[in-house]
Amino acid sequence: MEIALARNAEDAAAQVADVILARLKAKPDLVLGLATGSTPIGVYRRLRDAHARGEVSFARVRTFNLDEYLDLPADHPQSYRTFMREHLFQGLDLPPENVHFPPTEGRDLLRRCEEYEARIVECGGIDVQLLGIGRNGHIGFNEPTSSLASRTRVKTLTERTLEDNARFYGPGERPPVLAVTMGIGTILDAREVLLQAIGPKKAQAVRSMVEGPVSSFFPASALQLHRRVTAYLDPEAASLLTMIAYYRRTRAQDEELRRAGRL
Ligand code: F6R
Repeated sequence: MEIALARNAEDAAAQVADVILARLKAKPDLVLGLATGSTPIGVYRRLRDAHARGEVSFARVRTFNLDEYLDLPADHPQSYRTFMREHLFQGLDLPPENVHFPPTEGRDLLRRCEEYEARIVECGGIDVQLLGIGRNGHIGFNEPTSSLASRTRVKTLTERTLEDNARFYGPGERPPVLAVTMGIGTILDAREVLLQAIGPKKAQAVRSMVEGPVSSFFPASALQLHRRVTAYLDPEAASLLTMIAYYRRTRAQDEELRRAGRL
């Protein structure tokens, strides 16, 4: 796993956005895997700004969101479809038919989850997958003990995730306890993974992801099995890493080799 130590949250967002924009310029029909939550908001703002400046078009991009709550209507203020519309899609020239979310309404969910996976394959696979990380190590809504080979399916959310989500719901509102999420196997199939972690609450999770054992009890550790993952961390999220000087040196040296056209 490559560790990118950013100066702060803004710098991390700028670095992630720059990678996505570079990939998009190289491949205008890029297939993007997208995350929600507070972490990617700065990245999405930068993508919208780049589009507004006329630097990039999303007209041929295909997107697949990681997850969505079961039975939460698309227009609910807390649905991930609302989140994506507000933070990214409404500012872009992305055709609505190119946007995909896991199936969360109606019957026959398992078959439709398989269709979601098949649609990803039909589009050529995910080129760049954006990820955040939960305090309990979840990626997408793959909670602890998720199979490392899992595919898109219904997941029961843990108490910890429910606590973390409670802040978005008013008193008397019942936050959803089930979600449909891409599996860890689905995420590992992406060609490149960009994970962002910001703030002191993520420090322990980052340490377990980067330096801990690979375990379904800490799903993000499965990213150690992927060939091309970069974790973009602010100083607080990186604060518990034990080999931080080595990561800084490695990144600087790799960048030098890239600039020289040798990597
Ligand atoms: C969101 C998702 C989650 C979040 C994670 C971190 O689509 O899949 O795994 O990335 O819960 O959330 P934030 O960014 O709000 O700390």
